[in-house]
Amino acid sequence: MKAAEEIRLTEKNVKEFIEEKVKKITSVIGDGIAINALSGGVDSAVVTMLGHRALGNRLKTYFVDNGIMREGEPQKVEEIFRQQGVNIEILDAQEEFFNAFKGVTGPEEKREAVTQTFYKDIFGKLVTKSGAKYLLQGTILTDIDETIAGIKRQHNVFEQLGIDPQQAFGYKIIEPLVELRKDSVRVLAEALGLPENIYNRPPFPGPALATRIIGEVTKERVDIVRKATSIVEEELKDTGAFQYMAILHQDRVTGMRDGKRDFGLQIEIRCWDSIDAREATPTDLPYKQLRKLADDILRGVPGVVSVTYNIAAKPPSTIEVV
Ligand code: XMP
Repeated sequence: MKAAEEIRLTEKNVKEFIEEKVKKITSVIGDGIAINALSGGVDSAVVTMLGHRALGNRLKTYFVDNGIMREGEPQKVEEIFRQQGVNIEILDAQEEFFNAFKGVTGPEEKREAVTQTFYKDIFGKLVTKSGAKYLLQGTILTDIDETIAGIKRQHNVFEQLGIDPQQAFGYKIIEPLVELRKDSVRVLAEALGLPENIYNRPPFPGPALATRIIGEVTKERVDIVRKATSIVEEELKDTGAFQYMAILHQDRVTGMRDGKRDFGLQIEIRCWDSIDAREATPTDLPYKQLRKLADDILRGVPGVVSVTYNIAAKPPSTIEVV
């Protein structure tokens, strides 16, 4: 098990990198068809653009609506890419994902549920339907080395773990970004002409809001964390922080509502300063801003009685809770 050597992209070498990757994709796919999935994050956005440069309409791009995305995300992402001349098909897979999450509570088991549903059930079928032999995906170096180090088995890492996607899912996977970390992916995204709201977008994990729910992922619990996420993203969007999020805890705590005891929900806010996600420190947010966030969440998210801010650095913490 070995990760690739890192390549750091700058304005100087980014053009050459694009040409090389486009050439590679073209030569591997030949006159065939490939598919890929957009999650709305910068990694999959970049892979979509590289794939389209290489294959044009022979790359079929899907936005898999797994029910655990942020508010309005499928339509938002589709519109951004339509403006880039790239057509995206939104695929409703909510039922499949929520069925797979039933009764699943452990972090790695959740990732495995996402992996199997996404790669086997959804993409297995799409590959057969479209005649594609390849899936293009945006795995980056940090995903791989956290998986190899045994910190988190990121949902999108296979070959480095000795898993052959052809055998496991029935297709091959091409990963043009495995030598890059997030800061280089952003340089690449800008060079590929993606708008700033994509290349400067905070990272968002493939397993989406499932990585921000402690315990079982149900529709109701996703709705709660989704509402809190919208509030946190809106309030913290101008901080320049690397990533910020709302977490739904499993434990309930005593609060009060309408003069009565309410054994209610806890939301944790996390906001990180980081360059490439390997290490991160909690952003020194003004107390006033934290208080405003708490008030907005208590008002806007039904059932919440406690709001906390994480102040532990990575390591030993990690960016997501799952
Ligand atoms: P952690 O939580 O390990 O996260 O400190 C490091 C970076 O990776 C993102 N992340 C994921 N991305 N699949 C992904 O595609 C995953 O399973 C996954 N888990 C974490 C996280 O958002 C952060 O930017």
